[in-house]
Amino acid sequence: GPLGEISIPLYFGFFLLSSVQDKIKCTANDFLKTLDTLEAFKKHMIDFTGKEESEVDLEQYFQAKEFLHCTTKFCNYGKAEGAKEYAVKKMYSFIFELSLTALFVTPRTVGAQVSLTEEQLLLWPADAESSVPAGASLPLGSRAHVTLGCAEGVEPVQTGLDLLEILALKQQDPKPDVVEEMELGSLTYYNEGRWMLSLREPIGARACFSSYYK
Ligand code: A2P
Repeated sequence: GPLGEISIPLYFGFFLLSSVQDKIKCTANDFLKTLDTLEAFKKHMIDFTGKEESEVDLEQYFQAKEFLHCTTKFCNYGKAEGAKEYAVKKMYSFIFELSLTALFVTPRTVGAQVSLTEEQLLLWPADAESSVPAGASLPLGSRAHVTLGCAEGVEPVQTGLDLLEILALKQQDPKPDVVEEMELGSLTYYNEGRWMLSLREPIGARACFSSYYK
């Protein structure tokens, strides 16, 4: 068929405009800096260092990402399941306003949760949440996020899995203890180094729907 001649990208996604990227990187760095100084975080520092009494500089710990984006469909140049079917969607280079509603940190990744609108969900693949942790059932779009940084040796695909894990824990215990009220919102700890800052005011981030080839 005609699709045979179309080259399919590595992935599709919402690419944050460069002015927006700078703003979000600043916000995320401020968050990491503050988190590092909190007694509550220091108490659980071992989640990140593996040993007692050692310190971690979170800004150094994560390797910051370039081209901040929210992946919709990872196509792997057509090799991923459903890649060809997805590639026929045509909303190229439309600008969308993404809503970033939380920042989260684990020993593996740092990311921002994205709450997609109904319109944006039309671009979301039905199977993105297929790897939710056992026992949880999360709504379509739950995995939507922007990877802000990964610890050494960690692949960015991990950010979405970390987010799903946190959301599954949140579903089991919808009112977990808030560790700290911060300027940006409420900080919650979900054990094993998982932290989530629910933003009081969501951050609006304009992004262009497009595709990426390496
Ligand atoms: P994310 O969307 O969490 O940032 P890579 O550079 O490893 O090839 O990945 C390119 C992009 O595609 C990254 O943004 C990454 O993660 C996402 N990605 C990689 N592998 C997968 C996968 N198996 N499922 C979903 N997204 C993926």
